[in-house]
Amino acid sequence: MHSLSTMERKRYAVIVAAGSGTRMNSKLPKQFIEIAGKPLLRHTVERFLAMSVPVDIIIVMSDEYKEYWKAYCRRNDFLEKYVLPTGGFTRFHSVKNALEYVPDGALVAVHDGVRPFVTPEFLEGLFQEAEKCGAVAPAVPLVESIREVDGDGSVPADRSRFLSVQTPQVFHSEILKKAYRQSYDTSFTDDLTVVQKAGYPIKTVEGLRYNVKITTPEDLELAEALL
Ligand code: C5P
Repeated sequence: MHSLSTMERKRYAVIVAAGSGTRMNSKLPKQFIEIAGKPLLRHTVERFLAMSVPVDIIIVMSDEYKEYWKAYCRRNDFLEKYVLPTGGFTRFHSVKNALEYVPDGALVAVHDGVRPFVTPEFLEGLFQEAEKCGAVAPAVPLVESIREVDGDGSVPADRSRFLSVQTPQVFHSEILKKAYRQSYDTSFTDDLTVVQKAGYPIKTVEGLRYNVKITTPEDLELAEALL
């Protein structure tokens, strides 16, 4: 069992699950779709609960689904203690709402509710790295050839110049909270971008190739096979 030294910051996980999942073509948002007998969101939360150091869970959800989720948790004896703030207009606004529940001086991981394949060991490593450097995110090199759309056609691009960024992204909470005081910018599709725009140094570490974001119906089939 891991012992909490006085040097370590308390840990929070903000799991964003307030998207409507328009690319999934399903009425039920993808985070609630059941795979291997459990909603995707539950698989994701369980990865955090399996870490050796305790973490406070904050799930951001639209008001429309809160009763549905609470009833699910009650019926299945899942997750007694958690906070359930309301989602916002974009992911940025959803995270901002969640940060109201995170104090300064902690570590906070922000993770997509639809990335159920992250492992507890990998999470542990990210939290430890964030403790040291303040702002860290996993990223993987591109494996496919890429092309830049140019009018009706496309031109080749150099893939070695790009990384594909994943979640969770983990931060000293006072850094993330300060960064989220900026006004919204359309480039804010993840947290690392918000923190870097605020002027803080950031770090990327090698991500897990299978830590994919379940986005399309094909991804769901993949998830079913893997889980
Ligand atoms: O839309 P996208 O795939 O980028 O969403 C990434 C994550 O952000 C998903 O887990 C989704 O539920 C969440 N999200 C949110 N609030 C929004 C939009 C997306 O919590 N307004």
